[in-house]
Amino acid sequence: MNADGRTRLNRTPEWTALAKHREELGEVRLRELFAADPGRGTGYTLRVGDLYVDYSKHLVTDDTLRLLRELAVATDVSGLRDAMFRGERINTTEDRAVLHTALRAPRDAVIEVDGENVVPGVHAVLDRMAGFAQQVRSGEWTGHTGRRIRNVVNIGIGGSDLGPAMAYEALRAFTDRDLTVRFVSNVDGADLHEAVRDLDPAETLFIVASKTFTTIETVTNATSARSWLLAALGDEKAVAAHFVALSTNAEKVADFGIDTANMFAFWDWVGGRYSFDSAIGLSLMIAIGPDRFREMLDGFRIVDEHFRTAPAEANAPLLMGLLGIWYNNFHDAQSHAVLPYSHYLSKFTAYLQQLDMESNGKYVGRDGREVEWQTGPVVWGTPGTNGQHAYYQLIHQGTKLIPADFIGFAEPVDGLSDELKAQHDLLMANFFAQTQALAFGKTPDEVRGEGVPEELVPHKTFKGDHPTTTILARELTPSVLGQLVALYEHKVFVQGAVWNIDSFDQWGVELGKVLAKRVEPALTEGADVPGLDASTKALVAAYRELRGR
Ligand code: F6P
Repeated sequence: MNADGRTRLNRTPEWTALAKHREELGEVRLRELFAADPGRGTGYTLRVGDLYVDYSKHLVTDDTLRLLRELAVATDVSGLRDAMFRGERINTTEDRAVLHTALRAPRDAVIEVDGENVVPGVHAVLDRMAGFAQQVRSGEWTGHTGRRIRNVVNIGIGGSDLGPAMAYEALRAFTDRDLTVRFVSNVDGADLHEAVRDLDPAETLFIVASKTFTTIETVTNATSARSWLLAALGDEKAVAAHFVALSTNAEKVADFGIDTANMFAFWDWVGGRYSFDSAIGLSLMIAIGPDRFREMLDGFRIVDEHFRTAPAEANAPLLMGLLGIWYNNFHDAQSHAVLPYSHYLSKFTAYLQQLDMESNGKYVGRDGREVEWQTGPVVWGTPGTNGQHAYYQLIHQGTKLIPADFIGFAEPVDGLSDELKAQHDLLMANFFAQTQALAFGKTPDEVRGEGVPEELVPHKTFKGDHPTTTILARELTPSVLGQLVALYEHKVFVQGAVWNIDSFDQWGVELGKVLAKRVEPALTEGADVPGLDASTKALVAAYRELRGR
């Protein structure tokens, strides 16, 4: 029994039943499953909003799915989900509510945290953001010298960078192409240098995005950006026209020198990696406009409602979460690939890495004890066709099981020439061919049938049975992007709920931050930092020597 009154996950009858089922199933052959059930290709599918989700190419039977759903019942996934939507403090280690779903709630919704309805505040900020975005887009908001803003540079890191940067890339076809929008995250000065080197300070707006406003990388980059601006404009007053802040921490924003009248707020119940539909999305809103931004929020909401209300058998985030658990915990899969067949989703997987790995990379359960089961997988991937010519070899013929999500669209985005549009079928032919090859492979007899010499037959044989989910939509619109992100947010939630971990804290990033602060004087001043281990001490000495210090 856990301290929270739960039987430890791996001792529940539902877990044991799954382990037994896995043993009994043995090597699952997808060819056999499809032969036995001609309806599988359409039966094992779901529709959520504009998304068509095909899970037929998974190593599961009806029994597997039923047992997985029973595990979700035993771990009370729906209870925790409802508590989240109600605004309860389910982030127990930080004693916070988890209400990113309130960021996309309709104006008339009532969601209370400690007796206060948070929805009016959400919409007040959205309205202010919309007003400001329109001013920048129309040229009404001018820089210190009266010139219109043509460049927007978001300075933030983690959730204050990955979300807006990913979404800006994803929705590029919907952006105002006269605006240059860039994202600076790395404390490596090269990042800011490259982002601003060809920009005119008089036409540049910096958006400093930081939930805490204490993140060293962001504060350092923002300070350097201010110096760059002031070196050109020469007047402290210029900061007011060229800097805005997105934060929960008004005091620190003011300390930095940004007028809090130029601050767009959010709240401690929005986790950093769940925040780009809050004020953190301001750069995106400026790029695509408030209407498109609201369409994106509507997309999020479609999947929120689906997750909250759809029955277990037809609940896509629940299903995707449980399928991940099937491989992670019962097939010893270590990783999960996300492979978008869209150039515009080039940053999608990097975004998901934080969403998933910062949420579920935990070895301590909600009860404070070490878990005895595997938690979050390594999430990785890049746009699919490029991956095909790099690492797909290992997925097809390597020794590891790598479940993968394939995300594709029926239509290319608007704005492509007819010739480039025509390439879309080739892109999607690859998309469909890959999941087919992964699932069904090529038998030795099929290889022999092609006249391949016997000694090459094993090399050219594909075992198949590599599981994939296919997610297909008509077009990558703002709404569809919102739907996709919410789908993954809730998938991650489901897994954290089953594994009994707090998916909403991130204590694991703290130690490195503290040590970096301690090591810095050793690098800069050669200070003798007490407690430095022998290896790090030697590395610091080598670094100083290389720098000629
Ligand atoms: O270091 C991890 C983290 O706390 C993330 O969770 C967060 O998204 C990122 O740093 C940035 O934090 P902030 O928005 O407070 O600058």
